[in-house]
Amino acid sequence: MTPNPKPSESTSAGGSAGAGSAAGAGTQSATSADARPLNIVVTGAAGGIGHALAARMVQGGARVVMTDVQDEVLERAAALGAHGVVSDIATESGVQLLVATARAELGSIDVWFGNAGIERGGGLETSEADWSRTHEINVMAHVRTSRLLVPEWVERGRGRYIVTASAAGLLTMLGSPSYSVSKHGAVAFAEWLSATYRHKGDVVQAICPQGVQTQMLEQPGLLKDLLSHDTALTPEAVAELAWQSLQHDRFLILPHPEVGDYYARRATDTDSWLGGMNRLQQKVEAF
Ligand SMILES: NC(=O)c1ccc[n+]([C@@H]2O[C@H](COP(=O)([O-])OP(=O)(O)OC[C@H]3O[C@@H](n4cnc5c(N)ncnc54)[C@H](O)[C@@H]3O)[C@@H](O)[C@H]2O)c1
Repeated sequence: MTPNPKPSESTSAGGSAGAGSAAGAGTQSATSADARPLNIVVTGAAGGIGHALAARMVQGGARVVMTDVQDEVLERAAALGAHGVVSDIATESGVQLLVATARAELGSIDVWFGNAGIERGGGLETSEADWSRTHEINVMAHVRTSRLLVPEWVERGRGRYIVTASAAGLLTMLGSPSYSVSKHGAVAFAEWLSATYRHKGDVVQAICPQGVQTQMLEQPGLLKDLLSHDTALTPEAVAELAWQSLQHDRFLILPHPEVGDYYARRATDTDSWLGGMNRLQQKVEAF
């Protein structure tokens, strides 16, 4: 397999720091192979992880389009010096409009953070409508966006798609089957994309955090308290790791490194892993 040409090969062109070093990352600038600023789109950027990603990319010198279904993305983008677009990525026409608008604003797109996501808890009672909506946003938005971006990236020989999946996409999330299944779908699609296009210069990465201190984690739910609050990271910490990950091509971006151990255990000792998850479920039920 041939090495991938990619934006990250030259992202340190504007700085002197070593790739991936936390101290150095702040002095690097996000530039493309032809030394212009990287053009980056972030979805779900009105708040939470998406807003932090956009802020970190702007700070690094990138030109950023921030998009969200919520109008407040316009104000928040203006405050960062980015371009805001209101769009609903749950539909094919919404994604088409977003990609066209981002291209018109940026010229070309180097990096796409497919970050928007929803979580509708509810166990087996989760409604058909909630299953569908979750699938459209957490899975199909990546499929529809890739359909539009990847042919151009293959022609150019470079491009980077970064999915904000979740640790739930590698493991599971008790109390939320639609979230667990859709995030597994997001990771599976990203794996397929990487396996299919990496020799053509496309880099695909999946951010898989556990708890992050955003509005999503604040939704009521005992499970979330038990599972995530004590280890929850700030969105800025996730964004910093994403920024550093522009310097390499590794598929998994794990803000909570222990998730890698759980993932290995799930693969090599599945019943023991499931037993542990079930004990956690019983603990929740007894609470
Ligand atoms: N917070 C956590 O603990 C956590 C952990 C793992 C993964 N994640 C993932 O991180 C991503 C960001 O979530 P967050 O924690 O910042 O939550 P958040 O709710 O603050 O942000 C999600 C954003 O996506 C936007 N959005 C939802 N549907 C949309 C649509 N149809 N079109 C456009 N935008 C839409 C929302 O308006 C919101 O601004 C999600 O994919 C989520 O699943 C979050």
